[in-house]
Amino acid sequence: MGRGVARVRGIEVAYDDAGGGEAFVLLHGFPFDRSMWGEQSEVLSASCRVIAPDLRGLGETPLGDGGAATMDEMAEDLAALLDALRVERAVLGGLSMGGYVAFEFFRRFPRRVRALVLADTRPQADTDEGRRTREENAQKVLRDGMRPLVDSTLPKLLSASTREGSPDVVERVRSMMLAARPEGAAAALRGMATRRDQTELLPRIDVPTLILVGAEDTITPPSDSEAMAANIKGARLVRVEGAAHLSNVERPGEFNRALVDFVGGLSKVD
Ligand code: MLT
Repeated sequence: MGRGVARVRGIEVAYDDAGGGEAFVLLHGFPFDRSMWGEQSEVLSASCRVIAPDLRGLGETPLGDGGAATMDEMAEDLAALLDALRVERAVLGGLSMGGYVAFEFFRRFPRRVRALVLADTRPQADTDEGRRTREENAQKVLRDGMRPLVDSTLPKLLSASTREGSPDVVERVRSMMLAARPEGAAAALRGMATRRDQTELLPRIDVPTLILVGAEDTITPPSDSEAMAANIKGARLVRVEGAAHLSNVERPGEFNRALVDFVGGLSKVD
């Protein structure tokens, strides 16, 4: 797998680039980084070119002088990264916050999206209470660092069976979250708080769409995914049993099977 850095829009965007053929972009959630896609890159790169960037402010990608990490900024960063990599059109997959960015990217650049994968995400904007909690959390990470947020959030991200039966997964997720820089995490929290409601975009999605959700996800629950599937023409919905919010990390085998099936089906609908 190649690691790259592209200077776009005033920042150095770090990304992984593996395999060849049709481009498949993977966008991570919050407060994670591109390493969360390790198992998916390995499997998909047998048949696709897999590009996984660190989103602005997270992983190895800096926040930039403006200090903002909105979904709009991240979608524009991705378009510029794809330009730099000479990729015109890609299958676009995002988990949770990565899904919010994927919606925004589709809104702005629909012709650049070959197909969509929406994992453990939702189209709705935050409620007023949700926005207040984001701001409290942003202030908390800037004041106290990542640890208190990680301690309070981690149990909700993973299913009981992952927490009890897969200590390696728990530690992997914990260390990825602890490695986030507070300034970047706070900016992403504020960016998510101001994101657009994308509900009315759903009926306009006219590309093949795969929706995945952990059966025990309480952050973006299966009911949100069912509603998305009902509003996106032809969308396929896969429930990942035994997983909560980080379904790709918790149950990579099932998650990858659904991805590989979906990608295989795309060549037949060309
Ligand atoms: C994520 O995993 O990206 C976050 O849970 C998204 C959110 O907080 O809305």
